Amino acid sequence: MEIQGIKSLNGEIKVPGDKSISHRSAIISSITGQNVIIENYLFSQDCINTIEVLRDLGVKIEKTDNDLLIHGAKITDLSEPSGVLEVGNSGTSIRLMAGVLASTNFMSVISGDHSINNRPMKRIIDPLRSMGAAIFGRDNNTKAPLVIFGKRNLEGKRFDLPLSSAQVKSCILLAAINADGVTEIIQPEISRDHTERMLQYFDADIDFDGKYTRLDPAKKLVAKNIYVPGDISSAAFIIVATLILKCSHTIIRDVGINPTRSYFLDILKNMGANIEIKNKRTISNEPIADIETFSSDLFPVEIKKEWIPNIIDEIPVLAAAAAMASGRTVIEGAGELRNKESDRISSLCTQLKKIGVDIREKKDGFEIIGNNESCITGGTVESMGDHRIAMSLAILSLLSKNKTIILDSGCIDTSFPGFKYMLKKLMA
Ligand code: S3P
Repeated sequence: MEIQGIKSLNGEIKVPGDKSISHRSAIISSITGQNVIIENYLFSQDCINTIEVLRDLGVKIEKTDNDLLIHGAKITDLSEPSGVLEVGNSGTSIRLMAGVLASTNFMSVISGDHSINNRPMKRIIDPLRSMGAAIFGRDNNTKAPLVIFGKRNLEGKRFDLPLSSAQVKSCILLAAINADGVTEIIQPEISRDHTERMLQYFDADIDFDGKYTRLDPAKKLVAKNIYVPGDISSAAFIIVATLILKCSHTIIRDVGINPTRSYFLDILKNMGANIEIKNKRTISNEPIADIETFSSDLFPVEIKKEWIPNIIDEIPVLAAAAAMASGRTVIEGAGELRNKESDRISSLCTQLKKIGVDIREKKDGFEIIGNNESCITGGTVESMGDHRIAMSLAILSLLSKNKTIILDSGCIDTSFPGFKYMLKKLMA
């Protein structure tokens, strides 16, 4: 991707559907035994991989324009795949599907690209084993590919998880739907609750409050059609670009504002951002709204460690905002960033530095000394195969007088297809 500096962004857009909700909508609908229409599904590479994995298990899925029709199967109707289930770059696909596969009555092998097969999987292997599943991974049962011997009647359990991860929590919940007995999960900090909300929307007997979740599988799911809101994590790039470019004003319609995802908006507001949330409503048990943003002068704020799970995907874009905030921003307690699509601490520090950002690596975070647009020099940078690194570099590069080249920017399609087109529309 080649980027030339611009003056401002103006206009009104919609961003593509939410990645986390899209994965869950396809997976949960597929095991209800009922038909579900999913509107505004995100057809990004990651979410397409989830559809393909479900099809490999025998689920009939039809695509029409922007929507999906899932002919949901019962867990007992899923069939043993004849080949390896491939998730590509998608952590959500592999971790959530492992929960479903653990509760089938067949064997499956699930794998991904080089990045996925090096990300931590012990965090899901251990809980699934304790529910009774036979699940194995390479590197002494810590990494994918995973071999799963599904077992009907897994055992519901109480989990006190050592880390806050919505993927781990959702993996357990998806196994728990078809288990015997109640499952309870306690996490050290709050993580995104889309799985819980969708199960509640489908009439499951589920309670969730902050760090605590409880699911009783006795009550059968009643499927309903789903509307997937715009992805707030994609909107975040447009919001921060609007804030840091002078004379800019954008409105993003129909964005999901689930409180477990929108915390970065509060952080930006505390940094001086002029952001307004309008037209709040609830669709398919998820809060949505329009987000209006105006260019703003930013200053650094303290970012508390307990907020990290709720802003985990927005730390790269917050780093771009911090680079334009007058003063020092420190992010700590964010070691999980090293386990994402790339080691995001290292990726941010090496690549942002190349375009002129004053950033220093720490063991579990980084420190940025903010400046103004004149420090952004442009140059050639690498995405490190990570969509959020590529987009953070792209929006900062909009400030540069010189050209920036982002190598391997195709990965942006894993979450935000049309990113470049949307920026162009707002530049026009
Ligand atoms: C996701 C949860 C987060 C996030 C990822 C999507 C999800 O991962 O980083 O992009 O859809 O559940 P963890 O919950 O493992 O931190």
